Amino acid sequence: MSPRRSEKGKPLLPLKVTGTGSFLPEKRLTNDELAQFLDTSDEWIRTRTGIRTRHILSPEEIPATMGIRAAQRALTRAKRSPEDLDLLLVATNVPEEPIPGTAPHIALGLGMGKGAFADVSAGCAGFLYALAMAGAMLHAGMAETALVLGTEALSRFVNWQDRATCVLFGDGAGAVVLEKGQGASGILGVALRGDATKLGLLRIEAGGVRLPASSETVRAGKHFLQMEGKGLFRAAVGMMAEATRAALNQASLSLAEVDWLIPHQANLRIIEALVKRLRIPEGKVVVNIDRVANTSTASIPIALDELVQGGKVESGQILALTAFGAGACYGTVILRW
Ligand code: UT7
Repeated sequence: MSPRRSEKGKPLLPLKVTGTGSFLPEKRLTNDELAQFLDTSDEWIRTRTGIRTRHILSPEEIPATMGIRAAQRALTRAKRSPEDLDLLLVATNVPEEPIPGTAPHIALGLGMGKGAFADVSAGCAGFLYALAMAGAMLHAGMAETALVLGTEALSRFVNWQDRATCVLFGDGAGAVVLEKGQGASGILGVALRGDATKLGLLRIEAGGVRLPASSETVRAGKHFLQMEGKGLFRAAVGMMAEATRAALNQASLSLAEVDWLIPHQANLRIIEALVKRLRIPEGKVVVNIDRVANTSTASIPIALDELVQGGKVESGQILALTAFGAGACYGTVILRW
């Protein structure tokens, strides 16, 4: 399918981002602390990934509590109340519980009225999938005020004895309030993609219908996140570069017109390789992986919120948000602020 192109100056999906918010758990875990119980080092983690520290949720916290805090901050900045929301989409990989998902817990905790709510699962690209879906629903008149959220607690699913995975992830949540718009701001281009032949690169095998939980699955460690890091690394740069070019093409924009690139924060070396391939100046690239590590679906909305709260985003600027992850789902959304 060849996508409809944005006419220059006219958004494909008009909307306004009226508020952003994020939440990171209080507890921090440094590389040196990891090295106290794992055969690893600050040097290895820093040079191979760019990560120095990550936030880990406390036993009392769950993805919903993080999501609610991020959502409340975004709503306050948007000067909106939860009752104003007629759509809540929650991007997350591991739901609060198998039934129901995370969205109902967040809707309840927020005090949302009668609006629609649902989880979106598309690996670390989930936030971008949810953003595009919400944008399309606003445009189609199915909602007027939406909250799109990424919340993730992979610290509960990594094997803390597996140095190849547990050092990479952190917990957190990020949210945006979207409102129907008529002006020049909104989504200018969307390229959502997937390569299902790569679905084996990142998975939690057990605990679902295919391999229900049993004492054997627990003994075999099949409830932990398993990852082929090298395979993902190799695929990531090409996927994000291709999706970014396609989304910009749909937006009738060039790479030089991008003001901010917000890539999924999985590995600093992946971000650097992407930036080199796209020839985007480093000063336009948002990086916070050193402080937050890979927060999966929350990584883009957290980075976006930090950028916005830092007063760096100006009206009319072009933002390119790009991600890849389990599935292998990937994609890019181009926004005009
Ligand atoms: O959100 C998307 C999900 N994930 C990703 O995108 C991850 C993408 N992949 C990556 O970021 C990288 O592949 C990793 C950071 C996971 C690994 O980096 P790498 O440069 O690909 O290292 P490697 O897997 O080739 O491992 C090199 C060595 C191995 O030892 P040997 O076999 O050379 O002796 C590993 O056992 O480093 C070892 N190693 C470690 N050493 C110290 C692996 N993890 C660690 C560790 N500390 N934490």
